[in-house]
Amino acid sequence: MRQEIENRAAASAPYSLNLDGKVCVATGAGSGIGAGIARAFAGVGAHVALVDRNLGGAEAVAAELRNAGAVAQAIGCDVSDEASVSEAAGAARAALGPASVLVNNAGLLRAGPLDKVSIADWNQAIAVNLTGSLLCARAFGADMLATGKGSIVHVASIAALNPQTNSGSYSPSKAAVLLLSRQAVSGFRNAPSK
Ligand SMILES: NC(=O)c1ccc[n+]([C@@H]2O[C@H](COP(=O)([O-])OP(=O)(O)OC[C@H]3O[C@@H](n4cnc5c(N)ncnc54)[C@H](O)[C@@H]3O)[C@@H](O)[C@H]2O)c1
Repeated sequence: MRQEIENRAAASAPYSLNLDGKVCVATGAGSGIGAGIARAFAGVGAHVALVDRNLGGAEAVAAELRNAGAVAQAIGCDVSDEASVSEAAGAARAALGPASVLVNNAGLLRAGPLDKVSIADWNQAIAVNLTGSLLCARAFGADMLATGKGSIVHVASIAALNPQTNSGSYSPSKAAVLLLSRQAVSGFRNAPSK
């Protein structure tokens, strides 16, 4: 798996990605794009924390990675729940060490136009897509602030930039994820006062 990913990277980029031994966290890694991110991390040597509220899904992907020789740990977590995220960050640190990379990928689409989307669906889209990204950035980013280096990637969507049919709660939540990412770049925390 690693050779295949390295070959692809070498063919498409003027550099090679090497995350040997770095602890890389992917949320929503129990299926879909998140599982693909976890496989890509493992392919370049990372020690992978697969965070998902679907623990069974995350465990299945983690087992696949371990069978291929990678270091991988599945962690059950609801990214919209602060206590759950805090526990997950502690579990990842205990199992693998401090995080170097976080991909905030966990997300969901609650379809419906603005005049029909239920407030429960609206709140859930915001809670998972936006608040979940903040909670994970804070919890896993604490390791990065402590070591002075690290990277956080937010998965938004084309829907963040363009309104789409039936995307009443999804598009606004993903647009906010874009600005959360820019806000984090401009100042994840205030400089210490002198
Ligand atoms: N699939 C697409 O076409 C597409 C396009 C643009 C953006 N995206 C974004 O990419 C990301 C992944 O999408 P996907 O298509 O792989 O979706 P998916 O539904 O296949 O996977 C999402 C994963 O997130 C997990 N998850 C959902 N809510 C969670 C929560 N509260 N806590 C922890 N885990 C949770 C699910 O269990 C699932 O494993 C999402 O943020 C999505 O909005 C997807």
